[in-house]
Amino acid sequence: MHGWVGHNVYGAELERVLLDSAAIDRRVRELGDSISRDYAGRELLAVGILKGALIFLADLVRRLTVPVAIDFVAVGSYGAGTESSGAVRILKDLEQDIAGRHVLLVEDIVDTGLTLNYLLEIFRARAPASLRVCVLLDKPERRRVPVPIDYCGFVIPDEFVVGYGLDYNERYRHLSDIVVLRREVYRGNSV
Ligand code: PRP
Repeated sequence: MHGWVGHNVYGAELERVLLDSAAIDRRVRELGDSISRDYAGRELLAVGILKGALIFLADLVRRLTVPVAIDFVAVGSYGAGTESSGAVRILKDLEQDIAGRHVLLVEDIVDTGLTLNYLLEIFRARAPASLRVCVLLDKPERRRVPVPIDYCGFVIPDEFVVGYGLDYNERYRHLSDIVVLRREVYRGNSV
């Protein structure tokens, strides 16, 4: 039995484990190896997009063998719901100057692509030495704008997933597995 079932009070809302912590761990190691190889001899600035990327970023940077600095950005969408208007804005900007730096944007999931598309545009204008994207989960069926993904953990179907940083109404981010939320839980809500 998977760990969350027995001792998680929200268990009834969760349908099944899509990716367990062992599978995630293996894949994060592989991503870390690829990134370390590609950036050998250079120093990296890993930028996590709050809050979903928090846990992925924390695990990923510990698999890197190149020097790495960390920064965060927080974004939100205008209006209610996650896909209402498509307009994105920065709620918390980077603390570091990225001009001339090798920047790796680290994201938990790419859905419509609007968040990454917006951030890439803004960050490109700040003249980094390089700018790449690493995402744990890619949900291509939902894409509205194309996004260049340099490192991808898993391509997943169009289901609502939580855990490993991803939330539903701020819950479930702490789960070690990535779990599918029952449809009845969010049906009728704008998700
Ligand atoms: C989620 C996720 C990405 C974004 C992806 O963030 O973490 O940042 O949505 O969606 P998109 O490709 O359609 O733009 P959310 O707004 O839920 O905030 P959170 O990271 O704080 O959970």
